[in-house]
Amino acid sequence: MARRLVGLDIGSFSIKVVSLSKKGVGYRLEAIGIALNPQGARPGDDEESQRRVVEATKKLLSDTKLSGSKSAFALSESQVYTKVMEMPVLSDSELASAIHWEAEQYIPVPLDQVNIDYEIISRPEKGSGGDKMEVLLVAAPKKAVLRLVEFAGKCGVEVVSLETEMIAVMRAIVRDEAGAAPTMLVHIGASSMDISVVLQGMLLLTHSIESGGVALTRSLTNELGLEFAQAEEYKRSYGLDPSQLEGKVRDALRPLVDRTLMDVKKTLQYYNSGHQEAPIKRVVLSGGSALLPGLVSYMAEFLGIEVVLGNAFSEIEPSPNAAIPNDTVSFATAVGLAMKEV
Ligand SMILES: Nc1ncnc2c1ncn2[C@@H]1O[C@H](COP(=O)(O)OP(=O)(O)OP(=O)(O)O)[C@@H](O)[C@H]1O
Ligand SMILES: [Mg+2]
Repeated sequence: MARRLVGLDIGSFSIKVVSLSKKGVGYRLEAIGIALNPQGARPGDDEESQRRVVEATKKLLSDTKLSGSKSAFALSESQVYTKVMEMPVLSDSELASAIHWEAEQYIPVPLDQVNIDYEIISRPEKGSGGDKMEVLLVAAPKKAVLRLVEFAGKCGVEVVSLETEMIAVMRAIVRDEAGAAPTMLVHIGASSMDISVVLQGMLLLTHSIESGGVALTRSLTNELGLEFAQAEEYKRSYGLDPSQLEGKVRDALRPLVDRTLMDVKKTLQYYNSGHQEAPIKRVVLSGGSALLPGLVSYMAEFLGIEVVLGNAFSEIEPSPNAAIPNDTVSFATAVGLAMKEV
């Protein structure tokens, strides 16, 4: 059976790998694995920590029998510039020649330092009265790309595909329903939170914040005077549950949770104010921190909108070699990468 690209997600908390094969309209899980990132380091950090991440990744690939694979990688949203450009209505070829000039106004670094990619979000029909088209621009610093390719090389895998993280997350957890209302994806990992609005398979905007699960654990170490490991355990066991430990953990987490959710709310309101005819219908959560006990209902109340956990495995069946993990949200990025058509 032909294997697809292996999805390899190098998170700052853990490294995840997923291999799928096509099965009917869905997929079969061929291999899956997760390993702690030995020091919360990313490719490109100092040499010693990078060496340890490479070792951990190589071991994970060997344990899952995926050494030497052709792989799909993601660049984290904080590393790339994602902008929606408004421009006059142009044909494809006009756009291709205008894109660099237009991009210069949106990207804060010299264009020769980035790789540029773009996708048309909307283009009014000629004569329909609309005079602006919207184009999603993604610019990835060449340095970041190079570092990732080097890192993959050291792990013995070949980078065949590279995309931004939320494109992969979207592929994994948003099922295409023609005409469906826009959905907001909120992906909360260990060190960052990414917010995107998606509609009919397209990202309409993306916003990234440097805060995630590690910051939540830290707020417990500060507020309750706990060691990091114990704070991590309290966070996972009690989270936002008001009935646990007299709500002490919840109270300690709330200031940061509220500040973080304000960012989500602002993005929601910003999008909705420009799209009153078709506002965002619901929020889908992914990333390991989505498992914070009580978060789904807390967030639904905070935002006044339906919130659900994303399921990256809804179209994937297990195989004798690979079972569906309990913690599916943490694998959203790796699954989306593995689903990529090449
Ligand atoms: N049950 C849980 N409750 C609360 N938080 C959890 C739970 N399980 C995992 N987490 C948190 O999820 C985070 C890890 O999530 P994930 O695997 O998505 O991160 P990552 O991809 O390694 O990091 P990043 O993408 O931010 O570099 C950790 O901060 C961890 O504390
Ligand atoms: Mg991650």
